[in-house]
Amino acid sequence: DSSEDEDYDFLYKIVLIGDSGVGKTNLLSRYCRNEFDLQSKTTIGVEFATKTLQIDGKIIKAQIWDTAGQERYRAITSAYYRGAVGAILVYDITKYSTFENCERWLNELREHSSEEINIMLVGNKVDLKHLRAVALEKSTNFSDNHGISFLETSALDSTNVEKAYADLLHDIY
Ligand code: GTP
Repeated sequence: DSSEDEDYDFLYKIVLIGDSGVGKTNLLSRYCRNEFDLQSKTTIGVEFATKTLQIDGKIIKAQIWDTAGQERYRAITSAYYRGAVGAILVYDITKYSTFENCERWLNELREHSSEEINIMLVGNKVDLKHLRAVALEKSTNFSDNHGISFLETSALDSTNVEKAYADLLHDIY
């Protein structure tokens, strides 16, 4: 049924950003298709997937965009951010540099998106607790200072993945 495509009250564009290898693509596939790939290749270009959910009896269609963290594979930045009402800024809790770069990603996001964009900071790969390189205190400080939400997730074992998107979508709604 072609009318199914329009069967929603609100369409929200959400962008995934963060360094290469932090797990953006798997956070997308876990949420939209309940799939995870241990050997996923770096993203080239841009892809998106959608998921429909209900908030207060309204049908929300979330359109989630994913692109490469690597500069050389990145598509035109302004087109990627255009129209986004939410962003998930991802780092890898086992790799400190990916957390340090969040400041840079936040600046790029702020340059290319509207003031009111809702942002969720996500520390991914929390299943690898024994390899933790970013203390919780660091990220809670960062998110508090920037007035953004924060959760630790695992695309591998699904910890907080649904919640990260749901919390962000509730903030947007
Ligand atoms: P780019 O496309 O290069 O920007 O990378 P990305 O951020 O999309 O990372 P991707 O989802 O491709 O994941 C990179 C690697 O980390 C893959 O080997 C994944 O299997 C792995 N990975 C992703 N999420 C998790 C997680 O939650 N836990 C663990 N242990 N590994 C993960």
